[in-house]
Amino acid sequence: EKEQLLQGTSEKLQQARDYVESKKDEILSLKERNQFHHMPEVGWMNDPNGFSVYQGEYHLFYQYFPYDVKWGPMHWGHVKSRDFIKWEYLPVAMAPDQEYETGGCFSGSALEVDGKHVLMYTGHTNPNPDDESWVRQVQCLAVGDGVNYHKYVNNPVIKTEEMPEHSSLTDFRDPKLWVKDGVYYCVLGSKSDENSARVLLYKSVDLVHWTYVGIVGESNHEFGYMWECPDLFHLDGQDVLIMSPQGVPVEEFRHKNTNTTVYCLGELNYETAHFERRVMEEIDYGLDFYAPQTTESLDGRRIMIAWMQSWHQNMPTDKYGWVTSMTIPRELSIKGDVMYQWPVREIEKYRSGHIGHESVIFEGSKTLAGVKGRHLDLEMVIDFKEAKYFEIKVMKGEDQETNIVYDVDRHVLSFDRRQSRSGIDGLNYREMPVPLVDGKLSLRLLMDTYSVELFAQEGAHTMTSTVYSDLCAEGIEFIADRTVEMTVHKWELNV
Ligand code: FRU
Repeated sequence: EKEQLLQGTSEKLQQARDYVESKKDEILSLKERNQFHHMPEVGWMNDPNGFSVYQGEYHLFYQYFPYDVKWGPMHWGHVKSRDFIKWEYLPVAMAPDQEYETGGCFSGSALEVDGKHVLMYTGHTNPNPDDESWVRQVQCLAVGDGVNYHKYVNNPVIKTEEMPEHSSLTDFRDPKLWVKDGVYYCVLGSKSDENSARVLLYKSVDLVHWTYVGIVGESNHEFGYMWECPDLFHLDGQDVLIMSPQGVPVEEFRHKNTNTTVYCLGELNYETAHFERRVMEEIDYGLDFYAPQTTESLDGRRIMIAWMQSWHQNMPTDKYGWVTSMTIPRELSIKGDVMYQWPVREIEKYRSGHIGHESVIFEGSKTLAGVKGRHLDLEMVIDFKEAKYFEIKVMKGEDQETNIVYDVDRHVLSFDRRQSRSGIDGLNYREMPVPLVDGKLSLRLLMDTYSVELFAQEGAHTMTSTVYSDLCAEGIEFIADRTVEMTVHKWELNV
């Protein structure tokens, strides 16, 4: 009987699956692909969706438009993994084939419920592309077995009528679902009819009937006009709200990308929805990091993954038929007022060819035997001694390099792809305040074909960026203005 409440597979979905099948072999064999980051087989990808455990495996869905290297009506792409690193491609999970989602199946989340995989997502319609005020967004369900997903016949389960007073009807999206003490909750991104961004809390006992609880947080015109992709979870004694605000004023160091991401530490009142916030900080100070989402691993770690891309930028791999990657999944922890991020420990089993250089003391320029390449895990500790300036050049070729610099007087770490030949129009340089600990900087650097992820001071500060250098640019050089002492460990990463 329950099966009758689910829609069958549509022609539109079959068409997307067939299309991907017909294109994928050619694109998957390209060397112009990342090696240990998830990318779409073909076409366009944005936000991670439905990051969850189902039947003992990790599932990741994503905003997907297979037919072009540009955004289009959103499908849900789908992969799964046993270790967060090696992802197996599965057939496209959803296509926008219902009348309440003609503009796309927008972002959402997933949960395992009684042996079924439940997806909750936003149905987006845009009947008049010349006039955004016609846009409507509603919340929907689909149920599946890990491969095939069927939409609930009585979708939508949260309609625009169920928004609080003075809401904008055009922005109501990205449900993040969780269960606590047998009750389902979801947070949604939204805004008031006067463009004040909001996160809303809803609850349900059966996933089908939802009640509005209240406003978790609101920008009051001070912190952007729309908060996308909220996520809320409990970690190390705190409630953590993460979200992706649009329209936040730029500060000296923070919020330089068009859309930013933040974490808030505090406490959620489940009765009133009020989030008592103690701390708010930008999650990642790199050039390409957006729409992060988390899940809990089988052994209880909180893992975050994000879209390793900024909106509104050219994407140089479009010529190869695919664009954009996800970040490496990261283990989160809270220490004091800081959310730490660290690459999932599973990546360590893909390390090979260890090279270690202990206590290298130098001044000027230095290269280290065996320390070069494009697919690397590098761990270093730099003891500044006398130096005021320290630089690592990576992806160094004859006429190109990418520069990571620490300025001791300013306590600022910077990332610079202006000389990288990336060909990205727009922002190519960012700075991040990083205090030294006992006069030292610890840095971990994960480099894939087209990306650099930096984790400073054990993951207290991170910078994630794409870099589209020529593949032959693989030199690494260290520069210091006066004496420094450093330790460097390098591994190749091959998946
Ligand atoms: C964030 C976002 C979401 C939306 C999706 C559409 O990047 O704008 O708010 O659901 O992308 O693809």
